[in-house]
Amino acid sequence: MTSLALNMLRSDSEEEARAAFARDVVAGLTAPQKTLRPKYFYDEEGSRLFEEITQAPEYYPTRTELGILKENGAAIASLIPAGGALVEFGAGSSLKIRTVLRALDKLEVYVPVDISADFLAGEAAALQQDFPRLRVLPVAADFTRPFTLPAAAQKRPRVGFFPGSTIGNFEPGEAENFLRHAARILGPGAHFIVGVDLIKSAEVLHAAYNDAAGVTARFNLNLLSRINRELGADFDLDAFEHQAVFDGRRSRVEMHLVSRERQRVAVCGRKVDFEPGETIHTESSYKYTLSSFGALARRAGWTPVQSWTDPRDWFSVHALAVPPASH
Ligand code: AVI
Repeated sequence: MTSLALNMLRSDSEEEARAAFARDVVAGLTAPQKTLRPKYFYDEEGSRLFEEITQAPEYYPTRTELGILKENGAAIASLIPAGGALVEFGAGSSLKIRTVLRALDKLEVYVPVDISADFLAGEAAALQQDFPRLRVLPVAADFTRPFTLPAAAQKRPRVGFFPGSTIGNFEPGEAENFLRHAARILGPGAHFIVGVDLIKSAEVLHAAYNDAAGVTARFNLNLLSRINRELGADFDLDAFEHQAVFDGRRSRVEMHLVSRERQRVAVCGRKVDFEPGETIHTESSYKYTLSSFGALARRAGWTPVQSWTDPRDWFSVHALAVPPASH
């Protein structure tokens, strides 16, 4: 284990995390519309498959956001005070953070927060090597729940970073709660840089979530493998298929796993029955307009400062601020 991994602040024991996973899976699979929470996609294999999705030609969000960050790095950097700490909620793409860290050259501390401790340790160690003047202080935690920032970050100006439109994987009410929670963690005077996918044609969205090489399908099905592996279930992966559809009325892409046949699956000591065609809803990916996201941020106590998009208006990056504490 690297010294970085040893230094990680672990806020959840592995046993608690497993028990919460089992509870969520049982609750989700016994509901009238079977559901699984998308945060459980990201075990080691799921994180690897997600990286592969971001390389798929149809999956535009990652490279479009990267283009926006490259194009507007100086403008984004000018909003951020020197000597600050960047807190990334969910440490995902190393390419993206490298682009941001190069633009924010006055930054002193980088705090990646992620539930996948091993993935985080590897990424953090590589970043520390490539940015030797930066203090890289990873925190292994569920970033949607309260966690403590390292002391070195608490005493500096703080900037949150939440790229990739991960905010779109929350229900709108949850997204608002998450933004409020992030404001609490980052504290008065903080900024927040948030990547948000925009509403666009159903064809483009459909292709992005049904890539021809089938990586998104493998990513979706990996959730069942993970439940088999970690909770001793007996899902037959060949008996389910990936489905992703855009619901324009709700401005969201829905991902499902569709049962190909009538079947019974054993999960955590229970029997779960499926009809042919019955689905497990595994993810919603909400798409916003610039103004609908701005309104959401305001409801959560943030002030929108500026936003940037690409030439096709497919993706957006928003800078938000929380007012400094009044004395
Ligand atoms: C991480 N999240 C923003 C991705 C999305 O586009 O909603 C997850 C994903 N699901 C399928 N493809 C990518």
